[in-house]
Amino acid sequence: MTTLVTGARGKVGQGLIARLHAAGHTVRAASANPAELTVPDGVGTVELALDHPEGLDAALRGVRQVFLYPEPVGVHELIKAAETAGVEHVVLLSSASVLGPDAETDPLASHSLTVERALAASDLTCTFLRPDAFASNSFGWAYFIGRSMPVQLAYPDAHIAPIHPEDIADIAFEALTGESLTGRAITLTGPESLTFREQLAVLADAVGRAVPVEQITRAEAERQMGRFMPPAMVGSLLDLWAAASHGPATVADTTETLLGRPARTYRQWARDNAGAFAAQH
Ligand SMILES: NC(=O)c1ccc[n+]([C@@H]2O[C@H](COP(=O)([O-])OP(=O)(O)OC[C@H]3O[C@@H](n4cnc5c(N)ncnc54)[C@H](OP(=O)(O)O)[C@@H]3O)[C@@H](O)[C@H]2O)c1
Repeated sequence: MTTLVTGARGKVGQGLIARLHAAGHTVRAASANPAELTVPDGVGTVELALDHPEGLDAALRGVRQVFLYPEPVGVHELIKAAETAGVEHVVLLSSASVLGPDAETDPLASHSLTVERALAASDLTCTFLRPDAFASNSFGWAYFIGRSMPVQLAYPDAHIAPIHPEDIADIAFEALTGESLTGRAITLTGPESLTFREQLAVLADAVGRAVPVEQITRAEAERQMGRFMPPAMVGSLLDLWAAASHGPATVADTTETLLGRPARTYRQWARDNAGAFAAQH
């Protein structure tokens, strides 16, 4: 029984492929850019950009389960091709944002919500993993920390419960190989609520250098973030962090509650990835 893992170069996809292969499952790694993909020996690869359906039939041949990154463009073609190929179960890397009050119109949340709804209306058995913010979003600070520049934030006291991507890979592995999570929609977080300021203090410990934090205005943050993402997405993220500044984030399901194994802390993520924040000369 072959499992297709999409988004194979992504942090969750990589961890999941390694786990499935190590446990003896047949896994096919699908990437929009397989030339840049590294997989364990014995894992087949296939080119698949989810927003371009051309590669679907070849990618899905002989596949019974799919780990899916959310891409609304082309989702109906994907579902049709999956049903035709005999796929039985799809585990979607969705997002906790689908639970927000404005999920239908919010540009971040609607991306995942559209895919959830299309899958829910299909004949496929679907498991929705809905993580909150990834600890790996902190890579966005690496440039500044590496150059000993202050990290500038509009909402440094926004609380989140960041989840280690390896925890998501553990839970995705269980969703694909066990029965306890099949068919469920599960909100996932890390084990503790931390503000951005607290996360930066943990990173400072991990790299052994001070990491100054500088509060900037929302307008300045809009200007800076607008260089990398569309204005609607910038507004959505800033609104989220403004709302998160009022108190601790809720801790939802973790590897502890779902698998009985302690959830990886943000401190562990910082230790695992300290090299990415090393001083740049
Ligand atoms: N970051 C967060 O805080 C967060 C929170 C909740 C949910 N999520 C969801 O988790 C997913 C990944 O998170 P991430 O961006 O932080 O990083 P990531 O793990 O680095 O994943 C990015 C990967 O997504 C794959 N991908 C993107 N668009 C694709 C497409 N059209 N077709 C095929 N594959 C595509 C790419 O894989 P290939 O290049 O190998 O194809 C890429 O490696 C996102 O879809 C996001 O909605 C993220």
